Amino acid sequence: MQTKKDIVNETINYLKTKFSDEFSGHDIWHLLRVRNNAIKIQKHEGGDLFIIELASLLHDIADAKFYNGDISIGAVKTLEWLSNFDLDNNKKEHIADIVKNISFKGEAKKNNNLTLEGMIVQDADRLDAIGAIGIARVFAYSGATGRLIYDPDQKPITNHTTETYYKNNNTAINHFYEKLLLLKNLMNTNYGKILAEERHNFMVTFLNRFYTEVEE
Ligand code: ADP
Ligand code: NI
Repeated sequence: MQTKKDIVNETINYLKTKFSDEFSGHDIWHLLRVRNNAIKIQKHEGGDLFIIELASLLHDIADAKFYNGDISIGAVKTLEWLSNFDLDNNKKEHIADIVKNISFKGEAKKNNNLTLEGMIVQDADRLDAIGAIGIARVFAYSGATGRLIYDPDQKPITNHTTETYYKNNNTAINHFYEKLLLLKNLMNTNYGKILAEERHNFMVTFLNRFYTEVEE
């Protein structure tokens, strides 16, 4: 009989292989950092740790961006993986539901379909998109997808719909205004908000310095 720990470890091993050639910011270390952030938040906010750990690890298993915007693909792939284990159906469904509901789709509004566990995983993922790590990831993603670092003639688009968000090919610097700087105010949990504040401020410092150097 597999323990919860075995299931978590098998999932990590599977994802290590699956994401071994992933260079757009969704590598295994992103998944492990999100799990780590989520465990920290769970200590303050409660929630089912096993659900939180598995949903954190699996949350990027299939990105709608790379499947023509199909938002159910993550849940489908999650259920496929979880079918390897002897787990209650409602647990599997809960994890798949979190994977489906946490992603930022361009519109700066809260998703009201999240359970406490879902809110924690979403906060944990968002923390990894901001601060120094977030800065590193946005430039890695932009490079991997052929986007520029900065173009003073391109202005950020701050009123995206899901459709325009997926289609947009904007610069790395603009992505701060289209997503990263909005995340602080979208955090769900109190402890997540505290952690986000410091990371947010670091991005503001970085951007100010960036413009100073551009204008030098
Ligand atoms: P997450 O893993 O937080 O769900 P995404 O899948 O949206 O995030 O994106 C992965 C990483 O790539 C994030 O850190 C994000 O900032 C960056 N990224 C996503 N879309 C863009 C974009 N259009 N331009 C630049 N960076 C992006
Ligand atoms: Ni993620």
